[in-house]
Amino acid sequence: MGTQKVTAPLVFAITIAAIGSFQFGYNAGVINAPEVIIKDFINYTLEERLEKLPTEVLLTSLWSLSVAIFSVGGMIGSSSVGLFVNRFGRRNSMLIVNLVAIIGGCLLGFCKLAESVAMLILGRLVIGVFCGLCTGFVPMYIGEVSPTALRGAFGTLHQLGIVIGILVAQIFGLKYILGTEDLWPLLLGFTILPALLQSAALPFCPESPRFLLINRKEEDSAKRILQQLWGTEDVTQDIQEMKDESARMAQEKRATVLELFRSPNYQQPILISIMLQLSQQLSGINAVFFYSTGIFKDAGVEEPIYATIGAGVVNTIFTVVSLFLVERAGRRTLHMIGLGGMACCSILMTISLLLKDEYNWMSYVCIVAILVFVAFFEIGPGPIPWFIVAELFSQGPRPAAMAVAGCSNWTATFLVGLLFPSAAFYLGAYVFIIFTIFLAIFLVFTFFKVPETRGRTFEEIARVFEGQAQAVSRANKGPVMEMNSIQPDKEATTNV
Ligand SMILES: *[C@@H]1O[C@H](CO)[C@@H](O)[C@H](O)[C@H]1NC(C)=O
Repeated sequence: MGTQKVTAPLVFAITIAAIGSFQFGYNAGVINAPEVIIKDFINYTLEERLEKLPTEVLLTSLWSLSVAIFSVGGMIGSSSVGLFVNRFGRRNSMLIVNLVAIIGGCLLGFCKLAESVAMLILGRLVIGVFCGLCTGFVPMYIGEVSPTALRGAFGTLHQLGIVIGILVAQIFGLKYILGTEDLWPLLLGFTILPALLQSAALPFCPESPRFLLINRKEEDSAKRILQQLWGTEDVTQDIQEMKDESARMAQEKRATVLELFRSPNYQQPILISIMLQLSQQLSGINAVFFYSTGIFKDAGVEEPIYATIGAGVVNTIFTVVSLFLVERAGRRTLHMIGLGGMACCSILMTISLLLKDEYNWMSYVCIVAILVFVAFFEIGPGPIPWFIVAELFSQGPRPAAMAVAGCSNWTATFLVGLLFPSAAFYLGAYVFIIFTIFLAIFLVFTFFKVPETRGRTFEEIARVFEGQAQAVSRANKGPVMEMNSIQPDKEATTNV
């Protein structure tokens, strides 16, 4: 690090791409603040249609459906990443799907005018599909245009876009901004604006040079883009590395999703990718955010929404901290520190929740525990799972791997959202112990299985896993004759 120049075209391209991350964060966070207002809308719309008062159960179900269908859209979108990226290219895929965002934004923005609950639900589904696609496209594009030494730092910008999106959604949702009975359609439809902005700017961003060279065999344009993005004339070595990857890809079978689970070269990295995505969602971050409003209220915070916004600010600050740490400390170390810290905080949360009726000051312990929990999340488990998937796979299997990883993440989000309220109801404060257990499992898994990818080219990372797969198959067949093909995992061991 340090030798690598950060050029203006590179920063521009990555910032524009990260608008997609912002969109995801914004749409994920925007629905919480206007809950009461939108429920009212569903109530009077149905009342007019049915010509009688809708039941409480029907109202709650329709509301929950409009919240949850976003995740269903996300699962559909994230698993469709492969349909786009090799056909249209990375940049053009991001450009095209803005159309989906505009359609979704219109459905949401006009559902009140049209007095249609169906439009609201359909709009949430469409926006979910769009966000699912973004969670695949953006980390892939950033990973492929970034120089090796800065891949992690830039990869963290995806998470930064997400947390800024959530924060903006919370602020816009305040009652004296857009969170009113008249203006909430604007709050939901706002997503059209970033979509237009990104569509206008993307044509000025380059296509991924790896895509051009490896998938399209356009060496000259790949070279030109590399020189421009990385601000250096001499890119021979990087071009050669891509050519090696290209040659290898020609020998491989087509990397379908099924192949990821069958081929011994991919089994290990896909397992790691899925586990890291699960570690992000099963860490309980969304549950803590969900629970926090009540806790802040208990502690005597008059407007808990401001405490939630405070948590959003902590979120943003520590994502920036991670951005600066990730190329120094490494992915593996930061992920473990994050998981470990979160595990301690979740124990502290349980204890303070159990004791807060006896000792008032325990509420403050709990608030501090929540904020520190959020901080540890953004140090590692927040940003790292997104970009490490792009790092663990070379060009051929990458789209399929992004799809599998993204879909695992969205599914886990969906399940936590679905199951947490009833788990919290039955277990009370002990519900956080479940997350402590998950965090401990993921910590152990990371310690034993996750290699350090910092400072390594995609080729080098792929070879680590090939070495392991060969060692395993040879160990199964009998005595090992050639030892030199097993690459010792130097970086990973020195970083622990
Ligand atoms: C729905 O609106 C009616 C008034 O039109 C009101 O009496 C009823 O309480 C509302 N239902 C809910 C669940 O808010």
